[in-house]
Amino acid sequence: MILTMKSCSSRSRGRSHAEVTAMNHSFLRRMALLAAIGFCCLAGCAEEEPETVRIGVALYQQDDTFLSTIVQNLEQQAKERETADRKLNLNIADGRGSQAAQNEQIERFLKQGYDVVCVNIVDRTAAAVLIDKARASNVPLIFFNREPVEEDLMRWDKVFYVGSDAEQSGLLQGGIVRDVWKADRGLIDRNGDGLLQYVMLEGEPGHQDTLLRTENSIKALTKAWVPVEKLANDSANWQRGQAHTRMAQWLKQIGQQVEVVFANNDDMALGAIDACFEAGMSEDQLPFVVGVDATPPALEAIAEGTLKGTVRNNASAQASAMLDLACALSAGEGLNGIEGLKNGKYIRTEYAVVTPENLDEFLP
Ligand code: GAL
Ligand code: CA
Repeated sequence: MILTMKSCSSRSRGRSHAEVTAMNHSFLRRMALLAAIGFCCLAGCAEEEPETVRIGVALYQQDDTFLSTIVQNLEQQAKERETADRKLNLNIADGRGSQAAQNEQIERFLKQGYDVVCVNIVDRTAAAVLIDKARASNVPLIFFNREPVEEDLMRWDKVFYVGSDAEQSGLLQGGIVRDVWKADRGLIDRNGDGLLQYVMLEGEPGHQDTLLRTENSIKALTKAWVPVEKLANDSANWQRGQAHTRMAQWLKQIGQQVEVVFANNDDMALGAIDACFEAGMSEDQLPFVVGVDATPPALEAIAEGTLKGTVRNNASAQASAMLDLACALSAGEGLNGIEGLKNGKYIRTEYAVVTPENLDEFLP
């Protein structure tokens, strides 16, 4: 400004004092106007710059079918929630089953100043350390799908859990089998001995869903006085391939006796069906197989008639709950408006039974 004023006064040489003063005044007015316009423009531009909410998502294992469904939902819903003033930026990290690797990924998110970090923790007992680190950086944590113990979640008020009620999924899965047993026992009791012979394919040992689904699926039957006989059980770590291997072994040992396969998730249910076909069974000879999750391949198998039922683990509602929390937390808003939030910490979505009868309601 000062430089401009000097050059201006040098150009006015040879004019009367009044002329020069008038020129200077009009020049100054124009300059002031330009400066004001420039300032408004800058301020306006700053206001228009959209705010970006940065959300880190740390997965225990990216190739897990149910979790990839959650991620797809997160990505799609994040896009739908974007506005002219707010962008949502998701960064997905794959822990590949290693807690040490996941800790590093989360520390990186904290250092880079992410607004919120969503944690699908590898080892449910390792939450305390992460919570303390997040607290030191003042970055809220939303645990999901793999539930830390309550004591850990209580360490800080900006720690949450989004998931579902595992006990309910077990009861509903057992309920599918119970209802068929009651309505048309011959479909299940192939050897006609009045006992329901089953095998149980379990998820990862120590996972809340493994323990509660295994226990409650059978409870739904015994509570209804259905006599059951367990032939075998083993963990297949949620994985289709491992379930295939376990089932192939059981088929060799006790093949003809298996009437029902309870699988703690759909991928393992599909692995059991793979093994049956590989062993040369026809569709009519398949045991009554049930899963949990309602993943896209499981819905297809229900449509084909090989999988008899599943229990929908609501990936879309869980993704939505995580984004509700993430947006409110990053905006520094209160959490009173967050749907389903219990005790300021927990959001649990409802499970639902899926069978051939109501499959249409669940198809995309
Ligand atoms: C369960 C789900 C499984 C697996 C597991 C991973 O809720 O049913 O399929 O994704 O979470 O933690
Ligand atoms: Ca029987």
